[in-house]
Amino acid sequence: MNNTIINALNWRYATKKYDTTKTVSPQDLETLIESLHLSPSSFGFQPWKFFVISNPELKQNLAAQSQPSVGQASHIIVCAAKKTLTPMDIDNWMREISEQRGVSIESLAGYAEMSKGYSQSKTQDEIFSWNARQVYIALGFLLETSALLGIDATPMEGFNPEKFDELLGISDSDYTSVVICPIGYRAQDDAYANVKKVRYPKDSIITVIE
Ligand SMILES: Cc1cc2nc3c(=O)[nH]c(=O)nc-3n(C[C@H](O)[C@H](O)[C@H](O)COP(=O)(O)O)c2cc1C
Repeated sequence: MNNTIINALNWRYATKKYDTTKTVSPQDLETLIESLHLSPSSFGFQPWKFFVISNPELKQNLAAQSQPSVGQASHIIVCAAKKTLTPMDIDNWMREISEQRGVSIESLAGYAEMSKGYSQSKTQDEIFSWNARQVYIALGFLLETSALLGIDATPMEGFNPEKFDELLGISDSDYTSVVICPIGYRAQDDAYANVKKVRYPKDSIITVIE
């Protein structure tokens, strides 16, 4: 086992109380942001937006629509999922690949057609649920990167998405908040820091087939 990784994953926990005097450095913040940026997604569509908030007033307003620890954290990361996926989104994505890789749009036609067929076979609810699942992959990247950097983080679904969307000014957009993650440094007196991490026995959830 790689102890650097496993020790970091044992060290991390869903922090309930943050040290209000500590701030994540710009360099570490950049690394966390890059880990979101580099997260994989189905077909590479990246159906998400992330908001990284340190503004004190906005943090307090968001905390009022969630849990107090949110307002104590250095930054709040709000992860929003795209509500829809249109053929135009797929065309835009193909254009991006074409430009960044220097390949022709025509060479991507098969890929475009396949992904349009796949997305058009889904209902609106299925599309949103699919997009939201991609967002949770990015959340996983964020949590692991935070742990490796020694930064505390709390994945949270306990918040009011409608109010968050209002406060972020995205209510009328094609995106909605699905999960949030305050980041920062644990308060010395956070009682949860020392409770045993509870997981089901490994062999009850993992089957290795050789
Ligand atoms: C998607 C998701 C949503 C969660 N929502 C909340 C939440 O709203 N409030 C909270 O205090 N913890 C929340 N948690 C934290 C979990 O309760 C915690 O990760 C779990 O109990 C395992 O403990 P550990 O993270 O300390 O190892 C959430 C975790 C995940 C992954």
